[in-house]
Amino acid sequence: MCGIVGYIGNTKAYPILINGLQKLEYRGYDSAGVSTIENEKIACIKNKGRVKELDNMEGTHFLEGTVGIAHTRWATHGKPSSINSHPHLDSSETFSAVHNGIIENYNELREFLTNAGYKFLSETDTEVIPNLIHYYYTKETGNNEDRFVHAVSRATKDFKGSYAIAVLCKLEPDKIVVARKDNPLVLGAKDNEMYIASDIPAILEYTNNIYILNDGDLAELKAGSVKFYDKDFNSIEKTPEIITWDAKAADKNGYDDFMLKEINEQPTAIRETIGTRLVKGGKCNFDDINITKDFLLGINRIYIVACGTAMHAGIAAKPLFERLAGIPVEVDIASEFRYREPLIDEKTLIICISQSGETADTLAALKNSKAMGCKTIAISNVIGSSITREADFTVYTHAGPEIAVASTKAYTSQVTVLALLAIHFAEVLGSRETALIETLKDEILELPSKASIVLENTDMLKEFAKRIYKEKDVFYIGRGSDYAAAVESSLKLKEISYVHSDAYQSGELKHGSIALIENDITVIGIMTDRRLVEKSVSNLQEVITRGAKTLIVTNQDLDTKLFPNILRIPEINTLLSPVIAVIPLQLLAYFVSKEKGLDPDKPRNLAKSVTVE
Ligand code: M6R
Repeated sequence: MCGIVGYIGNTKAYPILINGLQKLEYRGYDSAGVSTIENEKIACIKNKGRVKELDNMEGTHFLEGTVGIAHTRWATHGKPSSINSHPHLDSSETFSAVHNGIIENYNELREFLTNAGYKFLSETDTEVIPNLIHYYYTKETGNNEDRFVHAVSRATKDFKGSYAIAVLCKLEPDKIVVARKDNPLVLGAKDNEMYIASDIPAILEYTNNIYILNDGDLAELKAGSVKFYDKDFNSIEKTPEIITWDAKAADKNGYDDFMLKEINEQPTAIRETIGTRLVKGGKCNFDDINITKDFLLGINRIYIVACGTAMHAGIAAKPLFERLAGIPVEVDIASEFRYREPLIDEKTLIICISQSGETADTLAALKNSKAMGCKTIAISNVIGSSITREADFTVYTHAGPEIAVASTKAYTSQVTVLALLAIHFAEVLGSRETALIETLKDEILELPSKASIVLENTDMLKEFAKRIYKEKDVFYIGRGSDYAAAVESSLKLKEISYVHSDAYQSGELKHGSIALIENDITVIGIMTDRRLVEKSVSNLQEVITRGAKTLIVTNQDLDTKLFPNILRIPEINTLLSPVIAVIPLQLLAYFVSKEKGLDPDKPRNLAKSVTVE
């Protein structure tokens, strides 16, 4: 997805901009560009391709300006090309703008501006932005001092859709103006320097003093100062947040790939996510969200709403909430939920899960539900992200920055925090499942060390990856909570190795899909539920009889003659098993991707944060 970086200070902007763009590469993009103010003119260099290619383009290293903006584009309107890349200039080359999001009414605005004499070069929606700002700058000015920021404010009132923008003006070369709505944008402050980024890791090595912009906010940046305005152009005050991620956490730290680093960070991510929410012998602590018994007694249904991996965390959490809190749970895909007119009233609780907190479908589902009168909880990994500002309550995972497109540590942290929340609900409600609750709490505290044990056992997975990397289809099966781990493991394989795979509830396979099982096909079975082990073994026998080879992830004692490839994981209550069972299968997907010579961090066609519908 698109990325924005900006800098204003007293040193050369270009190296900072390129460095920031490189930090945002993980979001996925097809073009890159940069604009700086050079001797009161706007320089703009851009092209399709990688940031490295931009850095090799003629002219980039002559950029001396100390004020600049930069962008990585992921095409939505218009193919990847030099013309369509950002930054975009207005017809008179007075303004330069970078933009994340979509201006939905751009055709209408383009027509209006064309009639007013503006010329358009690209196929993008973004090009209306600098032109409309120019229009208001020349036609409808505020007082001289804030003419630039006022023109941007006026232009944003005409935009329908979503935007995070950063704008340069050659007539006011000591300023950058930024604005955002439904797309993330943060500012960093350090002495006489200001930084802009769509994502915190882009600027974290310079400062951890971060201002978070709310929907509709604007800011006018100068070297060392910033003024904030709300959507109605009222001056507002903001205090920066101190971000505790260090810049090193956003680097590979010696691993070949971010994904491998993040898989290995899971013991820490889970431990940090548990944090002080649970200590041995204590109750789960969610004092920060003030969920009362009366409130929970008034809830008759929970919807867990999310996309992709985050939605799979919801599948893993459903039995925890139902069993412990006794409240029925539906898990919904956000892109469906937002349009399917779900039954929502004041007795409904919505839990939205989003690592980034910026996923457009999840955010829209949350906003729609809130408008229908229910209470909402956001689970997110990013402080101040959009869903956290919309929701009534927020619970953070503390997985640290997740850079690889394929989500790993965010998933296990999400399931962990959801398990804690389900127990908290049960404790607030005075559940009678006290023995189970105590067992689960003890086991949650052991999750970090169990995750570490699983991470030590990689050789067998590497070997198995060598056996299967050329295959076209792989099946994952599991019952109950093991199905949650199966569906997430299957997604991991698909997205980073491009091997088609599907996940099934083990007992469902025989109702049709077993027709796909043929000689030497791979079926991966997950078995952690002692009560269901015999049933699962029968299901696996059904596929073995049809020629399948199997890999079994289990903590049960199984017949090694029947199952020659067993990956043992530590003993764990099946309700929590998705946290542990998924880890070897994340690794398997990673090894298959590497065997195929692919880049697991940047899978094709995918972006880290999907901020468009
Ligand atoms: O940032 P979010 O958690 O809202 O992202 C949701 C999905 O786009 C994300 O989990 C996606 O499925 C991952 N690439 C899967 O690895």
